[in-house]
Order: sequence, then structure tokens, then C-alpha cells
Amino acid sequence: MKKRLALFVLLALLTLLAACANTTPPTPRSTQADNKEFPPLPVLDPAQIALGETVYAQNCAACHGENLEGEADWKRQNEDGSFRAPPHTAEGHTWHHSDQQLLEAIELGGARYEDVNVGGTSNMPSFAEILTDEEITAVLAYIKNQWPEDIRASQWQVTVQTANQ
Ligand code: HEC
Repeated sequence: MKKRLALFVLLALLTLLAACANTTPPTPRSTQADNKEFPPLPVLDPAQIALGETVYAQNCAACHGENLEGEADWKRQNEDGSFRAPPHTAEGHTWHHSDQQLLEAIELGGARYEDVNVGGTSNMPSFAEILTDEEITAVLAYIKNQWPEDIRASQWQVTVQTANQ
């Protein structure tokens, strides 16, 4: 009787072991499926870029620099606590923000910081009444067009992710 029990336990253990060995690893998340869901990087419209170039030269270059380079020593705040205009190149942080945030920055300028403490003030004007929606989108397209591909892709990812939240 004892022998039978021992045999039974042994068999049970063996079955268990076999079952463990057979366990298939969790299926990896298919990256292909992810890519399918992720909308491709939009192609920038050359006409929009051209319009954006004019808009930029007339409204933004004075502070952000003719070549998007920003103000000298832009990371340092002015004595009065106001921020200096950052570059819009890969060196700056414009590309860290979603389209939504960038459009808001251009539309509202420094006024968007009125009710939030960001550690300083901004003298950037509000362009909501100065530029049309078309011009605002165009100037953003002009800026994006100067980003290297990987920076553009990164900013696009931020835009898609924040839109899906
Ligand atoms: C009088 C100077 C001035 C002008 C003109 C100006 N800006 Fe700015 N801009 C600033 C300053 C200063 C900041 C940094 C503080 C802030 O975020 O408001 C800034 C910030 C920004 C930001 C946010 C960048 C970031 O990384 O958070 C964007 C986008 C921007 N400007 C776009 C523009 C565009 C486009 C124009 C022209 C249509 C323009 N600015 C004109 C001074 C200016």
C-alpha cells in the first residue's frame, strides 16, 4: 500500500514537472501590430513651410533667432526673472512638447503662465489676435521641418500619446 502511494506521488510529481517544462513563454507583444496602430509621421506641406518661413521671420526671429538658435545664454533667466527665448532647434525643448502645447504656447505666449508657478515670467506675446490659425500651423510646420528625423519622430510620438490620453 505504501509503495503504491509512493509511486502515485512520484507520478504526480513527474506530471507536474512535465507540465512546467511545457509552459510556453508569454507571447511577446507584437511590435508590428503596435506600429500598425501608430499613425505614420505626417508629411509636411511645402506650401505651409514656405508660409511659415515668412511668418517666422516677421514675428518670431527677433527673439528666437533668425536660425531658430534662441537668445544668447538662453538657459539663464534675465535679472527681472523673465525667461530668455529658447532655441527651436534640436538643442532646445520645443520638440519635447506636443502639437497641442506648442499651438497653445504660440496662441497665448507668456500669458499661459499667469496662473501657474513655473519659476519665472515670459514676455512672449500672444499671437492669437495677430496671426491666423493657418499662419500659426504654418510657423510650426516651418520649425518642425528643421528638426532631424529622429527628433521629429519623437515629437510626433508625444503628440499622438497625449492626444490618446
Ligand atoms: C518678445 C520675444 C518673443 C517673440 C517675438 C516670440 N517668442 Fe516664443 N518665446 C519667448 C520666450 C521668452 C519664451 C520662453 C518662455 C515661454 O515659454 O513663454 C518663448 C517660448 C516659446 C515656445 C515654447 C517653447 C518651449 O520649449 O516651451 C514656443 C513654441 C514659441 N515661443 C514659439 C514662438 C513663435 C512661433 C513665435 C512667432 C510667431 C514666437 N515664439 C515669438 C519669446 C518670444
